[in-house]
Amino acid sequence: MDKKKIIIIASVLLLIILIWIIFGGAIRNKLFTNKLETLGYSGKEIKLIEEKVFSDDYDLVTTSKNDEVIDVISAKGYRGENLKKYLDYYSKYKNCDMEDIITIVNSGYDLSKYEPTSTLADLVTEKYYIYDNTSKYLKYYSNNENISLDKVVGLVNSKADNKFYTNTKNADLNKGNLILVNKYYYLKDNYIPDDLVTLTNKYNGGTNNMMRKDAANAFMEMVDAALLDNIILKNMSAYRSYNYQVNLYDKYVQKDGKEAADIYSARPGYSEHQTGLCTDINDISSSFEGTDASNWLVDNAYKYGFILRFPKGKEDITGYTYEPWHYRYVGKNAAKIIHDNDLTLEEYYAYYLDK
Ligand code: DAL
Ligand code: ZN
Repeated sequence: MDKKKIIIIASVLLLIILIWIIFGGAIRNKLFTNKLETLGYSGKEIKLIEEKVFSDDYDLVTTSKNDEVIDVISAKGYRGENLKKYLDYYSKYKNCDMEDIITIVNSGYDLSKYEPTSTLADLVTEKYYIYDNTSKYLKYYSNNENISLDKVVGLVNSKADNKFYTNTKNADLNKGNLILVNKYYYLKDNYIPDDLVTLTNKYNGGTNNMMRKDAANAFMEMVDAALLDNIILKNMSAYRSYNYQVNLYDKYVQKDGKEAADIYSARPGYSEHQTGLCTDINDISSSFEGTDASNWLVDNAYKYGFILRFPKGKEDITGYTYEPWHYRYVGKNAAKIIHDNDLTLEEYYAYYLDK
């Protein structure tokens, strides 16, 4: 081939490439529009599709006439990048509501094995939803439909869909001041915190007067701050050994029977008092509620890293009746989140530490 021919062929090829670069998009769009017309989409529908469907998904729309396409792209919450997922989900569950599908797909979780019900759509938008708990939430809710979904999420996250004292595990000591000890997580009988310090009389009015160091320091800081507001706070019972709890629990069982005792007293190994991170303050009785000291604690304890551990209305999560006197040290960050969001330690632990 002579040189001239090669130059002509190369120029023609270059021209074709240039034309494709400049007009390729328009040509493709034209072909796409023609295909939509051939499939029977109306002018209005074509306009909508062209506005809302990315060119990457053109094939998805032009393989066959697909009424769902119009439904989905005009539905609330539609996001172009999820079109394929919406359509796949919808083709599996024809009778479901498109907006539920959109909400579920938009959550970003792979929930395609679940039927896209309105319950599932509400569930994935719950603030403390944990993906791995999905089937447990649905199961619990189907058995207890009168309970709100946020409550279901709280209960299941806290493992309270299991009966108390079932499926129990060792408490995770690596969680430090955030350790969770409750009716599912226990401490061994030989566990004694290694940094217990003794509270002086200024801070203490009881016999169980030891706390772990961080908790004790925070407690003293809190007591001093309360005093400036003319509030007197004293620990009445902080660290309790395993054996101490054996006797205490037994005493209550003798007095009230096991079932009643379980509502207000922990079985040995399952008491948070063995962590050395909690304190019963001033008055271990329901009459503490509503006192100036109690009100002060409700408003301020979190600023020093303490939380009301067994609040009213959360008995089914904590496993205990409301204890206005029992405060637990968790550190300032966690205490603020727990206080501001009205959580229990169980709910916080599940969502922020254990997920
Ligand atoms: N009263 C609390 C629940 C305890 O026994 O640890
Ligand atoms: Zn207590």
